[in-house]
Amino acid sequence: MRKESLPSIIAPQQRARWKNDRDGIWTLDGAFLDAIPTRSILTTLWDQPRWLEAYHLYDQRGSELFEQICELPEYYLTRTENSILEAEAATIIAAAPVECIVELGAGYSKKTIHLLTEQLRQRHKGIFAPIDVSRSGLLASRDALKRDFPRLEFHGLHARYEEGFTSIDQAVPTLFVFLGSTIGNFNHSELPRFFKNFSQAMGPDDYLLLGADRLKDVAVLEKAYDDSQGLTAQFILNVFIHINRLLDSNFNTEKMRYHAQFNSEWQQIEMYAVAAETHEVHFPNVETSFNWKRDERILVEISRKFDSLRLQEQLRFFDLTPVDHFTDPDEWFSVLLFKKQC
Ligand SMILES: C[S@@+](CC[C@H](N)C(=O)[O-])C[C@H]1O[C@@H](n2cnc3c(N)ncnc32)[C@H](O)[C@@H]1O
Repeated sequence: MRKESLPSIIAPQQRARWKNDRDGIWTLDGAFLDAIPTRSILTTLWDQPRWLEAYHLYDQRGSELFEQICELPEYYLTRTENSILEAEAATIIAAAPVECIVELGAGYSKKTIHLLTEQLRQRHKGIFAPIDVSRSGLLASRDALKRDFPRLEFHGLHARYEEGFTSIDQAVPTLFVFLGSTIGNFNHSELPRFFKNFSQAMGPDDYLLLGADRLKDVAVLEKAYDDSQGLTAQFILNVFIHINRLLDSNFNTEKMRYHAQFNSEWQQIEMYAVAAETHEVHFPNVETSFNWKRDERILVEISRKFDSLRLQEQLRFFDLTPVDHFTDPDEWFSVLLFKKQC
């Protein structure tokens, strides 16, 4: 295989951390992805109430299930955000004169093609660097983009958000893209921590394009996260199959059920795994266990819903100045453009 040179968008002081994984995909040197999950999974499972960090949902099966969820009639988020991006990509790219587009939690990058098309049309060249913990998502995105956008420079970064964005050279004008209302998966302490670190990592000519789902009728929200085909239930419970593989634990999806509800005080959909019967869950590698009592819930994922004006006001505190705001005719979803203020 031809030896690839490290992409120029990686900051000089970060270059030693990255190694080539396979054609077009880069990963951090060292087994970082395998070392950290034990601590993350066990500390949150030992919390009260028990919960999990969202990134564990995305093994290969989880990424495939999420793609299928995006096609569901109940899951309005993807098609609504896609329609906004399709209509507004030319305006967004004209307002953000950048050399590089970095997508956080890119998945298969299907909606991003509107931005990439415009970047190539308006600037005649472009660099695209998706950051994702899902290797299968990065590979799918690489294959589709190399086929459809041969002029695009592609560098997939297989890493967690922070490991990825802190490695991007601040001297390269960059549009960071964070779609799918993935921001809604952060809880109230994760969200400010994320934006503090993210804003510090941004360069003076950088922008952020953020997709955020808005508050709406509770029935619409609850149906979107509890679909009639049961795909969301499979997606949420699949996290335990992934954890069993990582930690050699004995979670049994036959002994749990899925439950989703809207919490109106916290303005978030909460997705739980509930024990259908009391049973012991063992983690032999770290010689520990817990008794999962019947009806006790583990909060596997949240999806917060936003008031877009308030979100813009909040992000000002992280030196992100609102540039533009795009929505759909029903005002169900917002795509917000910010500029880093130095
Ligand atoms: C809700 S999906 C959104 C995918 C895509 N952006 C979209 O809009 O359809 C979240 C994506 O973020 C990735 N992800 C979740 N947590 C992550 C983390 N901490 N670091 C990097 N990627 C993460 C997942 O693998 C998944 O591809």
